[in-house]
Amino acid sequence: MATTSAELIIFDHLFEHYVLGDLELPNRLVMAPLTRMRADADGVMGELNAEYYAQRATAGLIIAEGAFPHSSGKSYPGQPGIETDAQIDGWRLVTDAVHCAGGRIFLQLMHGGRIGHERITPGGGRPVAPSAVKPQGDARIAGEKVPFDEPRAIELSEIVDVQEHFAQGAQNALDAGFDGVELHGANGYLLHEFLSDVTNLRSDEYGGDAPSRCRFVVETAQLVAERIGAARVGIRLSPEQNVNDISETEAQALYPHLLGELNAVGLGYLHVMETPPDAGWSSIAMARENWNGTLIANSNFQVDWPLEQADELIAEGRADLLCYGRRFISNPDLVARIRAGAPIAEADFRTFYGGGAEGYTDYPPLGDES
Ligand SMILES: Cc1cc2nc3c(=O)[nH]c(=O)nc-3n(C[C@H](O)[C@H](O)[C@H](O)COP(=O)(O)O)c2cc1C
Repeated sequence: MATTSAELIIFDHLFEHYVLGDLELPNRLVMAPLTRMRADADGVMGELNAEYYAQRATAGLIIAEGAFPHSSGKSYPGQPGIETDAQIDGWRLVTDAVHCAGGRIFLQLMHGGRIGHERITPGGGRPVAPSAVKPQGDARIAGEKVPFDEPRAIELSEIVDVQEHFAQGAQNALDAGFDGVELHGANGYLLHEFLSDVTNLRSDEYGGDAPSRCRFVVETAQLVAERIGAARVGIRLSPEQNVNDISETEAQALYPHLLGELNAVGLGYLHVMETPPDAGWSSIAMARENWNGTLIANSNFQVDWPLEQADELIAEGRADLLCYGRRFISNPDLVARIRAGAPIAEADFRTFYGGGAEGYTDYPPLGDES
């Protein structure tokens, strides 16, 4: 429980140290991966991005936004990559700035699967997915929204290439100075699409029953772990999270199985988004029960966790680390604000995606609001 002194509520559990692999985290607050679509047209990050991340370096851990390990997995204009030398050099500006400011930073590796468009993919390729199941909704293409197309079902022979892209992307991330990588297995992108019985209709060894639908994710995690060391690899999952038109009807059976298999890989952490309020079960409780290692908890797009609840989650040992997204967008000094019991600024959703410094690096720190 949080303790109260006069008017000030002290969320002291959020300020306990935590050892994550070879990193010493000064607090339990993790900055969520947040796609901001502010890389250049070639997926290269620069000084502005370095400033943005460095401003948030007091987080116990930053997980940088989903980056494509290969251009065929790009989902959004302005999304960064971690494939070319220029992209690696751009990210190095970011990691140097964060480390100089005393922070720690992982990179989320993301293949967008069917959430993309041939007008976004460099070279114009059609997005791939486990099966040719078209998502409802629109792709974001430079100020325009264009309906998603039906994806192309990935060939069995291509799977090994995509897995290799993840492993190479992880190596590139370390070369760029990241402390580790997070595999994006959430929110309806490629890994999640393999797990879902609605988007994965394959009849080969990567589709069918739950163990077969887990195969792509488990093999990818194994390969990445072999390449850069399991302790430097985390994975993010979002059971029953209905974004990007993903849905799952067998999540309560699949995820415990998946975690059992991932336990054997020995990953550095598991990052779980809480099931939406209407799911009727808690993915975080399921994860604590089935996962042997470090657990990072995040709410979801529908629910904004109050600080009391976040502190309680850590105090009661229901998770080890607490991840906030939107609060870190609008409060570069979120950690100091929580510690001081200061007001938390609201994020402006109109500047979430794309643009420049406005709504990105211009949220003022405490005491500098005028
Ligand atoms: C602008 C924006 C961009 C996001 N980009 C990503 C992303 O790149 N990868 C990811 O796993 N989740 C992404 N998310 C989800 C957040 O990481 C987080 O799960 C969600 O915002 C709920 O947490 P919160 O209530 O603390 O914001 C994004 C959310 C927002 C608002």
